[in-house]
Amino acid sequence: MNGLQPARRGRTREYLIAGAISEEEAIMITTSPVDIEARYAPNINPTYPVILHRAADCTVWDVDGKAYLDMLAGFSALNLGHGHPALIDALTDQAKRLTLAARVFHHSRSAPLLERLARFSGYEKALLMNSGAEAVETMVKAARRYGYRTRNIPEGRAEIIVFTGNFHGRTLGMISASSTPRYKEGYGPLLPGFRMVPYGDLEATRQAVTPDTCAVMLEAVQGRGGVVLPPDGFLEGVRQLCDETGILMLADEVQAGLGRTGYRFAVEAENVRADGVAIGKSLSGGIYPVSAFLADAPLMDVFTPGSHGSTFGGNPMACAVAEAALGVFEEEDLIARSHRLGREILPRLNAMKGGVVRDVRARGLWFALVIDPERGNARKLCRRLVDAGLLCDACPGEAIRFSPPLTITGHDLTKALDIMEEIMRTESTSRSE
Ligand SMILES: Cc1ncc(COP(=O)(O)O)c(C=O)c1O
Repeated sequence: MNGLQPARRGRTREYLIAGAISEEEAIMITTSPVDIEARYAPNINPTYPVILHRAADCTVWDVDGKAYLDMLAGFSALNLGHGHPALIDALTDQAKRLTLAARVFHHSRSAPLLERLARFSGYEKALLMNSGAEAVETMVKAARRYGYRTRNIPEGRAEIIVFTGNFHGRTLGMISASSTPRYKEGYGPLLPGFRMVPYGDLEATRQAVTPDTCAVMLEAVQGRGGVVLPPDGFLEGVRQLCDETGILMLADEVQAGLGRTGYRFAVEAENVRADGVAIGKSLSGGIYPVSAFLADAPLMDVFTPGSHGSTFGGNPMACAVAEAALGVFEEEDLIARSHRLGREILPRLNAMKGGVVRDVRARGLWFALVIDPERGNARKLCRRLVDAGLLCDACPGEAIRFSPPLTITGHDLTKALDIMEEIMRTESTSRSE
């Protein structure tokens, strides 16, 4: 499984003697790409020994031709499936025309996307960035400025309430807002101005508000935390608290947004509208990095010329792809589809409880099996699932998370559930023997 043409692998010595390749190349050819990666890149991701090579919609093939059902979708970036023709056409057409424009000029792909995004999102304005973390950072900047200007918070004192178990990205700012020690250890000094509150605890959130608070920032469902849902009424309660105290409600919808939970934005599960929203992943269709901070004019207009920017943010390729992605969301009615399929599979997911599965958490087409640590191990089970042809991942709290493309067929979803059931059942049986 080292991903090289067998002919080339087998004739390495011959090539070496003929001087066609160097000794170093010969070593590389006879070494697995996994080992090569380990030699030339830092080891920051615990991975599965699978080398993916090509994909179409919900199926991915590894270098040896083995097929997998993608039940992760690039952590929700591939919500439209792999290689959606509308996105590939948009990308390739635009690549032939104009790829980048210095931000001191306008370009022809920006206006159509911004109009479409405003219609789709219901927010008046968008500031386009590249990664999810950048979109959230942009949102934090906006909230701080807004707080200084509207709440008379003394300069340098603005605070944002954030929640345990959150994941807002890997920049210094975003890890400063994290409660996870391994994201932060050795990277200090970190950014001040975040106040940590237990996720889902409305009363603690209320207690944490001070005259220096400018915003509450949350994920309506914590994705990387393991598809963790807050208690019913929490989102509504935070909205109410923000209204009463005049602070902003910020939603990090980078993973949860654009249909994953069966809603356009995950906060809409409780009919809530946040004041600022960060989106990313899915906006890109998984083929080009594009993210955005969304807000109405009073909040967005804290940004003035020279106060923020990005070389690649909102470039023509990004705009073309994002516009096409929003088109696909509407044409294929993917948000409603996520809602419907999520409801349909819930009984089967719940029936997996018992044995090795202690709990099931789900919203829309996003779900996690929580493994009883006395009876099993999420990472080991994940390996079994991957071996059986399902791409999924383990996350904190012994959870295995699944987020298939929203385009997944009923047939493929049934197949995935069959495999999951079989593996959970056999693990439970082998443990009880
Ligand atoms: C909720 C949330 N916010 C922000 C991010 C960071 O996005 P990116 O990795 O594109 O910077 C992620 C990534 O998983 C996320 O899930």
